[in-house]
Amino acid sequence: MVKSVLKMGDPRLWQQARPVERFDTPELHALVADMEATMHHLDGAGLAAPQIGVDLRVVIFGFEDNPRYPDAGNVPYTVLINPQLTPLSDETCDDWEGCLSVPGLRGQVPRWQALRYIGFDQFGQAIDRSVEGFHARVVQHECDHLDGILYPMRIRDMHFFGFSDTLDLSRKS
Ligand code: NI
Repeated sequence: MVKSVLKMGDPRLWQQARPVERFDTPELHALVADMEATMHHLDGAGLAAPQIGVDLRVVIFGFEDNPRYPDAGNVPYTVLINPQLTPLSDETCDDWEGCLSVPGLRGQVPRWQALRYIGFDQFGQAIDRSVEGFHARVVQHECDHLDGILYPMRIRDMHFFGFSDTLDLSRKS
């Protein structure tokens, strides 16, 4: 079922979400189905459970050639639960991000260029991937939601934050 997405300013988006303790349950499968329906309905690249008001460490992401992210390529559809991220080097890069909880806006955010993420899917199967570039960026953005962090909190230069129909998105900081 498509759920409404909480918007920036709602204090539920600032909470530290709780770990999932039981996998492969009807409740968890229903949550993942709701998140998937909501993300696709809004044509998003990812969604975290707190964005639909559920206080659990569950994110989903993935897309194929999303027109909102023309240079992003493909990221496989992934359900990631209780994630842990480890950067693979000190290298960071800045690029534009948007968020379904911050509609109409974009900002340039520094992220680790390459990282390893581990966690579980909704069946309790382990996930262990090393990724880079936009895939790494999406994972970091979504997992930030689980710690109550929205991307505008990470913007270093506020000249690179604004409305997506006004900003020059080819500009790099
Ligand atoms: Ni977001």
